[in-house]
Amino acid sequence: MSDFVVEAKGVTRTFMTGDVKVRALRGVDMAVERGDFVAVAGPSGSGKTTLFNLLGGLDDPTDGEVFVNGEPLAGMNPRRRSRLRLDKIGFVFQAYNLIPVLTAYENVEYPLILKKVPAAQRLKRVQELLDAVGLGGMLKRRPNQMSGGQQQRVAIARALVCDPVMVLADEPTANVDSETGEALLDLMRKLNAEKNLTFLFSTHDPMVMAAARRLIRLKDGLIDTDVRQNGEGVDASVPAGA
Ligand SMILES: Nc1ncnc2c1ncn2[C@@H]1O[C@H](COP(=O)(O)OP(=O)(O)O)[C@@H](O)[C@H]1O
Ligand SMILES: [Mg+2]
Repeated sequence: MSDFVVEAKGVTRTFMTGDVKVRALRGVDMAVERGDFVAVAGPSGSGKTTLFNLLGGLDDPTDGEVFVNGEPLAGMNPRRRSRLRLDKIGFVFQAYNLIPVLTAYENVEYPLILKKVPAAQRLKRVQELLDAVGLGGMLKRRPNQMSGGQQQRVAIARALVCDPVMVLADEPTANVDSETGEALLDLMRKLNAEKNLTFLFSTHDPMVMAAARRLIRLKDGLIDTDVRQNGEGVDASVPAGA
């Protein structure tokens, strides 16, 4: 069993649209250790969303393998895979993806209902998380009664509710102003530091890239550079002992 929370080996993904073949990922190798804080950066169309969908088991590679918490996703039956996603992975999307008819409280509670967690435990956990993301006073608001930054905080609380091994956040700050983006980043940093929670987030914002402990740059479906930063100084693209 590996120590990596997620691993991609030789991953490619090709899309066919009519007769046109798009090679969204052309051979990606990466592995993420527990507790890391990783930015995947690259211009629009470089393959960030495709990569996150593969790492989270929402899509399958054309070639290559993905492992979550040491388990290969290939060949896993759909029920087992959904369960792995629910238990181990928190998803945060650019457009928040909250359920519009549910309140903040109910949106965060929803994954616990899927897991058949008893009501008293749900209440405690959801309140605790909404407090942690600074929304303790907004339990009854619906998404359309909240700002973008507030909605994204709800999405982060929802991503954390099942105690995942990693959070995959695809351009979480792309739809908010830079001040709100910085506050969301601070929140993720705090959760990373306090709970050793692994975060992978994609971005094309230099401010967001700069906050990461490890920066992976994608270019045309390939990893261009993979470096440690913020004083860690180790070039992760150079294997130890090389
Ligand atoms: N479902 C799809 N069908 C066809 N092409 C796709 C699909 N998803 C992504 N692509 C193409 O794959 C490439 C990478 O896209 P994407 O992963 O969304 O990049 P990014 O998130 O970095 O903007 C782009 O050329 C995009 O048009
Ligand atoms: Mg994208």
